[in-house]
Amino acid sequence: MSKVIAITGAARGIGLATARALKAGGAKVAIGDIDAAAAAEAGAELGVPFFTVDVTSRESFTAFLSAVEDELGPLDVLVNNAGIMPIGPVTDETDADARRCIDINVHGVMLGTKLALDRFLPRGAGHVINIASLAGVLPTPGLALYNASKAAVVAFTEATRLEVGGRGVQVSAVLPSFTNTELVAGTRSPKGQRNCEPSDIANAVAGLIAKPRPQAIVPRKLAANIRIGHLLPRGVNEALARRFGLDTIFLDFDHEARKSYDDRIRH
Ligand SMILES: NC(=O)c1ccc[n+]([C@@H]2O[C@H](COP(=O)([O-])OP(=O)(O)OC[C@H]3O[C@@H](n4cnc5c(N)ncnc54)[C@H](O)[C@@H]3O)[C@@H](O)[C@H]2O)c1
Repeated sequence: MSKVIAITGAARGIGLATARALKAGGAKVAIGDIDAAAAAEAGAELGVPFFTVDVTSRESFTAFLSAVEDELGPLDVLVNNAGIMPIGPVTDETDADARRCIDINVHGVMLGTKLALDRFLPRGAGHVINIASLAGVLPTPGLALYNASKAAVVAFTEATRLEVGGRGVQVSAVLPSFTNTELVAGTRSPKGQRNCEPSDIANAVAGLIAKPRPQAIVPRKLAANIRIGHLLPRGVNEALARRFGLDTIFLDFDHEARKSYDDRIRH
Protein backbone atom coordinates (compact mmCIF):
# COMPACT_ATOMS: atom_id res chain seq x y z
CA MET A 1 0.00 0.00 0.00
CA SER A 2 1.31 3.45 -0.81
CA LYS A 3 2.64 5.47 2.14
CA VAL A 4 1.14 8.74 3.36
CA ILE A 5 3.95 11.29 3.60
CA ALA A 6 3.83 14.89 4.87
CA ILE A 7 6.72 17.24 4.08
CA THR A 8 7.25 20.65 5.67
CA GLY A 9 8.86 23.51 3.76
CA ALA A 10 7.96 21.69 0.54
CA ALA A 11 6.90 24.67 -1.56
CA ARG A 12 10.36 24.90 -3.12
CA GLY A 13 13.92 23.55 -2.98
CA ILE A 14 14.74 20.22 -1.33
CA GLY A 15 11.22 19.74 0.06
CA LEU A 16 9.59 20.21 -3.33
CA ALA A 17 12.07 17.84 -5.02
CA THR A 18 11.39 15.29 -2.28
CA ALA A 19 7.63 15.60 -2.74
CA ARG A 20 8.08 15.13 -6.48
CA ALA A 21 10.31 12.06 -6.12
CA LEU A 22 8.14 10.38 -3.49
CA LYS A 23 4.97 10.99 -5.50
CA ALA A 24 6.68 9.53 -8.58
CA GLY A 25 7.50 6.49 -6.42
CA GLY A 26 3.80 5.97 -5.69
CA ALA A 27 3.45 7.66 -2.28
CA LYS A 28 0.50 9.82 -1.22
CA VAL A 29 2.28 13.10 -0.53
CA ALA A 30 1.12 16.34 1.13
CA ILE A 31 2.97 19.65 1.01
CA GLY A 32 3.12 22.09 3.93
CA ASP A 33 4.80 25.51 3.86
CA ILE A 34 4.56 28.89 5.54
CA ASP A 35 4.52 30.51 2.07
CA ALA A 36 0.88 29.98 1.10
CA ALA A 37 1.22 31.16 -2.51
CA ALA A 38 4.29 29.02 -3.20
CA ALA A 39 2.66 26.00 -1.52
CA ALA A 40 -0.41 26.40 -3.73
CA GLU A 41 1.77 26.63 -6.83
CA ALA A 42 3.80 23.56 -5.83
CA GLY A 43 0.65 21.60 -4.95
CA ALA A 44 -0.93 22.44 -8.30
CA GLU A 45 2.26 21.53 -10.17
CA LEU A 46 2.52 18.11 -8.52
CA GLY A 47 -1.22 17.49 -8.17
CA VAL A 48 -0.95 16.88 -4.41
CA PRO A 49 -2.74 18.40 -1.39
CA PHE A 50 -1.04 21.52 -0.01
CA PHE A 51 -1.44 23.33 3.27
CA THR A 52 -0.17 26.47 4.95
CA VAL A 53 1.78 25.59 8.10
CA ASP A 54 4.10 27.42 10.44
CA VAL A 55 6.31 24.72 11.98
CA THR A 56 7.07 26.95 14.98
CA SER A 57 3.43 26.84 16.13
CA ARG A 58 2.01 23.75 17.87
CA GLU A 59 -1.49 24.75 16.83
CA SER A 60 -0.56 25.22 13.17
CA PHE A 61 1.57 22.03 12.99
CA THR A 62 -1.17 19.95 14.66
CA ALA A 63 -3.78 21.31 12.24
CA PHE A 64 -1.46 20.46 9.31
CA LEU A 65 -0.98 16.83 10.37
CA SER A 66 -4.71 16.42 11.05
CA ALA A 67 -5.61 17.91 7.66
CA VAL A 68 -3.15 15.56 5.92
CA GLU A 69 -4.64 12.54 7.72
CA ASP A 70 -8.21 13.68 6.92
CA GLU A 71 -7.30 13.95 3.25
CA LEU A 72 -4.91 11.02 2.73
CA GLY A 73 -5.30 8.64 5.69
CA PRO A 74 -3.03 7.80 8.65
CA LEU A 75 0.42 9.36 8.36
CA ASP A 76 3.32 6.97 7.67
CA VAL A 77 6.21 9.44 7.28
CA LEU A 78 6.83 13.03 8.39
CA VAL A 79 9.76 14.80 6.72
CA ASN A 80 10.76 17.80 8.88
CA ASN A 81 12.42 19.81 6.12
CA ALA A 82 11.52 23.48 6.73
CA GLY A 83 14.63 25.50 7.60
CA ILE A 84 16.39 28.82 7.05
CA MET A 85 20.07 29.79 6.81
CA PRO A 86 21.13 33.27 7.92
CA ILE A 87 24.87 33.72 7.29
CA GLY A 88 27.60 36.26 8.10
CA PRO A 89 29.81 37.34 11.01
CA VAL A 90 28.51 36.13 14.36
CA THR A 91 28.79 39.63 15.83
CA ASP A 92 26.47 41.02 13.10
CA GLU A 93 23.76 38.51 13.87
CA THR A 94 20.63 40.15 15.24
CA ASP A 95 18.86 38.59 18.20
CA ALA A 96 15.74 38.39 16.00
CA ASP A 97 17.62 36.33 13.38
CA ALA A 98 19.02 34.04 16.04
CA ARG A 99 15.64 33.43 17.66
CA ARG A 100 13.89 32.86 14.33
CA CYS A 101 16.58 30.44 13.10
CA ILE A 102 16.47 28.40 16.31
CA ASP A 103 12.67 28.56 16.37
CA ILE A 104 12.30 27.16 12.82
CA ASN A 105 15.36 24.90 12.50
CA VAL A 106 15.34 23.44 16.02
CA HIS A 107 12.01 24.01 17.72
CA GLY A 108 10.10 23.29 14.47
CA VAL A 109 11.88 19.95 14.07
CA MET A 110 11.42 19.00 17.75
CA LEU A 111 7.74 19.94 17.61
CA GLY A 112 7.14 18.01 14.38
CA THR A 113 8.93 14.97 15.78
CA LYS A 114 6.88 14.99 18.99
CA LEU A 115 3.56 15.50 17.17
CA ALA A 116 4.36 12.69 14.73
CA LEU A 117 5.48 10.35 17.52
CA ASP A 118 2.19 11.03 19.35
CA ARG A 119 0.52 9.45 16.32
CA PHE A 120 3.15 6.81 15.48
CA LEU A 121 3.96 5.28 18.88
CA PRO A 122 0.41 4.09 19.69
CA ARG A 123 0.30 2.48 16.22
CA GLY A 124 3.78 0.98 16.58
CA ALA A 125 4.67 2.25 13.10
CA GLY A 126 5.84 5.41 11.35
CA HIS A 127 9.03 7.22 10.31
CA VAL A 128 10.27 10.71 11.24
CA ILE A 129 12.93 12.05 8.87
CA ASN A 130 14.65 15.25 9.97
CA ILE A 131 16.58 17.26 7.38
CA ALA A 132 19.65 18.39 9.30
CA SER A 133 22.84 19.38 7.41
CA LEU A 134 26.53 18.57 7.20
CA ALA A 135 26.73 21.98 8.90
CA GLY A 136 25.54 20.13 12.00
CA VAL A 137 28.88 18.31 12.21
CA LEU A 138 31.19 20.83 10.47
CA PRO A 139 31.40 24.18 12.32
CA THR A 140 32.34 26.90 9.82
CA PRO A 141 33.14 30.65 10.10
CA GLY A 142 30.13 32.80 9.19
CA LEU A 143 27.74 29.96 9.95
CA ALA A 144 27.77 29.78 13.76
CA LEU A 145 24.03 30.20 14.21
CA TYR A 146 23.08 27.71 11.49
CA ASN A 147 25.81 25.29 12.67
CA ALA A 148 24.38 25.43 16.19
CA SER A 149 20.83 24.85 14.95
CA LYS A 150 21.76 21.87 12.80
CA ALA A 151 24.02 20.34 15.48
CA ALA A 152 20.94 20.45 17.71
CA VAL A 153 18.90 18.65 15.04
CA VAL A 154 21.57 15.93 14.67
CA ALA A 155 21.74 15.33 18.45
CA PHE A 156 17.97 15.56 18.97
CA THR A 157 17.27 13.10 16.16
CA GLU A 158 19.82 10.56 17.38
CA ALA A 159 18.71 10.78 21.02
CA THR A 160 15.07 10.40 20.00
CA ARG A 161 15.94 7.43 17.79
CA LEU A 162 17.74 5.74 20.68
CA GLU A 163 14.79 6.44 22.98
CA VAL A 164 11.95 5.14 20.77
CA GLY A 165 13.87 2.53 18.75
CA GLY A 166 12.45 -0.93 19.25
CA ARG A 167 8.87 0.38 19.42
CA GLY A 168 8.22 -0.04 15.69
CA VAL A 169 9.00 3.58 14.88
CA GLN A 170 11.95 4.88 12.81
CA VAL A 171 13.75 8.19 13.35
CA SER A 172 16.41 9.34 10.87
CA ALA A 173 18.49 12.40 10.04
CA VAL A 174 19.61 13.51 6.59
CA LEU A 175 22.81 15.58 6.40
CA PRO A 176 23.04 17.22 2.97
CA SER A 177 26.09 19.11 1.75
CA PHE A 178 25.75 22.34 -0.33
CA THR A 179 22.63 21.92 -2.48
CA ASN A 180 21.48 24.17 -5.32
CA THR A 181 18.47 25.97 -3.82
CA GLU A 182 17.81 29.63 -2.92
CA LEU A 183 19.25 28.85 0.55
CA VAL A 184 22.83 28.97 -0.84
CA ALA A 185 22.24 32.06 -3.05
CA GLY A 186 25.34 34.27 -3.29
CA THR A 187 27.73 31.67 -1.81
CA ARG A 188 30.54 29.81 -3.58
CA SER A 189 30.87 26.03 -3.61
CA PRO A 190 33.84 24.57 -1.70
CA LYS A 191 36.89 24.42 -4.02
CA GLY A 192 36.78 21.39 -6.32
CA GLN A 193 33.32 20.37 -5.15
CA ARG A 194 30.10 20.43 -7.11
CA ASN A 195 26.90 21.25 -5.20
CA CYS A 196 24.26 18.54 -4.87
CA GLU A 197 20.96 18.95 -6.68
CA PRO A 198 17.71 18.89 -4.64
CA SER A 199 16.86 15.59 -6.39
CA ASP A 200 19.98 14.02 -4.80
CA ILE A 201 18.58 14.75 -1.33
CA ALA A 202 15.13 13.59 -2.45
CA ASN A 203 16.62 10.26 -3.54
CA ALA A 204 18.36 9.90 -0.17
CA VAL A 205 15.03 10.46 1.62
CA ALA A 206 13.34 7.90 -0.65
CA GLY A 207 16.19 5.48 0.14
CA LEU A 208 15.72 5.98 3.89
CA ILE A 209 11.98 5.32 3.63
CA ALA A 210 12.63 2.13 1.64
CA LYS A 211 15.40 1.00 3.99
CA PRO A 212 15.45 2.93 7.29
CA ARG A 213 18.88 3.93 8.66
CA PRO A 214 19.79 6.33 11.49
CA GLN A 215 21.57 8.81 9.22
CA ALA A 216 22.17 9.60 5.55
CA ILE A 217 24.99 11.93 4.47
CA VAL A 218 24.56 13.37 0.95
CA PRO A 219 26.66 12.96 -1.11
CA ARG A 220 27.41 9.56 0.36
CA LYS A 221 31.13 9.80 -0.51
CA LEU A 222 31.54 12.54 2.14
CA ALA A 223 30.53 10.15 4.94
CA ALA A 224 34.03 8.63 5.08
CA ASN A 225 35.66 12.11 5.10
CA ILE A 226 33.53 13.10 8.09
CA ARG A 227 34.45 9.94 10.01
CA ILE A 228 38.15 10.39 9.26
CA GLY A 229 37.94 14.10 10.08
CA HIS A 230 36.76 13.29 13.60
CA LEU A 231 39.98 11.30 14.14
CA LEU A 232 42.36 13.99 12.83
CA PRO A 233 44.00 16.68 14.98
CA ARG A 234 42.14 20.02 15.05
CA GLY A 235 44.94 21.82 13.16
CA VAL A 236 44.80 19.36 10.25
CA ASN A 237 41.02 19.80 9.96
CA GLU A 238 41.43 23.59 9.98
CA ALA A 239 44.08 23.42 7.25
CA LEU A 240 41.82 21.18 5.14
CA ALA A 241 38.89 23.56 5.63
CA ARG A 242 41.08 26.47 4.44
CA ARG A 243 42.12 24.44 1.39
CA PHE A 244 38.47 24.03 0.40
CA GLY A 245 37.81 27.74 1.09
CA LEU A 246 35.40 26.93 3.91
CA ASP A 247 37.02 29.56 6.12
CA THR A 248 35.61 32.39 3.95
CA ILE A 249 32.61 31.03 2.00
CA PHE A 250 30.04 32.32 4.51
CA LEU A 251 31.86 35.56 5.33
CA ASP A 252 32.86 36.69 1.86
CA PHE A 253 29.69 36.22 -0.18
CA ASP A 254 27.65 38.12 -2.75
CA HIS A 255 25.20 40.19 -0.66
CA GLU A 256 23.29 41.38 -3.73
CA ALA A 257 22.73 37.85 -5.01
CA ARG A 258 21.55 36.82 -1.55
CA LYS A 259 19.24 39.76 -0.96
CA SER A 260 15.97 38.19 -2.10
CA TYR A 261 16.62 35.05 0.02
CA ASP A 262 17.50 37.20 3.03
CA ASP A 263 14.33 39.25 2.57
CA ARG A 264 12.24 36.09 2.28
CA ILE A 265 13.51 34.47 5.50
CA ARG A 266 13.15 37.70 7.50
CA HIS A 267 9.60 38.61 6.45
N1 LIG B 1 20.37 23.97 0.26
C1 LIG B 1 21.38 23.50 1.00
O1 LIG B 1 22.56 23.66 0.68
C2 LIG B 1 21.09 22.69 2.25
C3 LIG B 1 22.14 21.92 2.79
C4 LIG B 1 21.90 21.20 3.94
C5 LIG B 1 20.67 21.23 4.54
N2 LIG B 1 19.67 21.99 4.03
C6 LIG B 1 18.38 22.01 4.72
O2 LIG B 1 17.36 21.53 3.85
C7 LIG B 1 16.11 22.10 4.23
C8 LIG B 1 15.45 22.70 3.00
O3 LIG B 1 16.26 23.77 2.54
P1 LIG B 1 16.23 24.34 1.05
O4 LIG B 1 17.62 24.47 0.62
O5 LIG B 1 15.28 23.57 0.22
O6 LIG B 1 15.68 25.81 1.34
P2 LIG B 1 14.52 26.66 0.63
O7 LIG B 1 14.63 28.03 1.18
O8 LIG B 1 14.56 26.46 -0.83
O9 LIG B 1 13.17 25.97 1.18
C9 LIG B 1 12.80 26.01 2.53
C10 LIG B 1 11.30 26.11 2.63
O10 LIG B 1 10.93 26.15 4.03
C11 LIG B 1 9.85 27.05 4.19
N3 LIG B 1 9.75 27.55 5.57
C12 LIG B 1 10.54 28.45 6.19
N4 LIG B 1 10.10 28.70 7.43
C13 LIG B 1 9.00 27.91 7.62
C14 LIG B 1 8.10 27.73 8.69
N5 LIG B 1 8.22 28.42 9.84
N6 LIG B 1 7.10 26.84 8.55
C15 LIG B 1 6.93 26.16 7.38
N7 LIG B 1 7.75 26.30 6.31
C16 LIG B 1 8.76 27.18 6.44
C17 LIG B 1 10.15 28.18 3.19
O11 LIG B 1 8.99 28.94 2.89
C18 LIG B 1 10.72 27.40 2.01
O12 LIG B 1 9.70 27.09 1.06
C19 LIG B 1 16.42 23.12 5.33
O13 LIG B 1 16.20 22.52 6.60
C20 LIG B 1 17.90 23.39 5.14
O14 LIG B 1 18.51 23.84 6.31
C21 LIG B 1 19.85 22.72 2.89
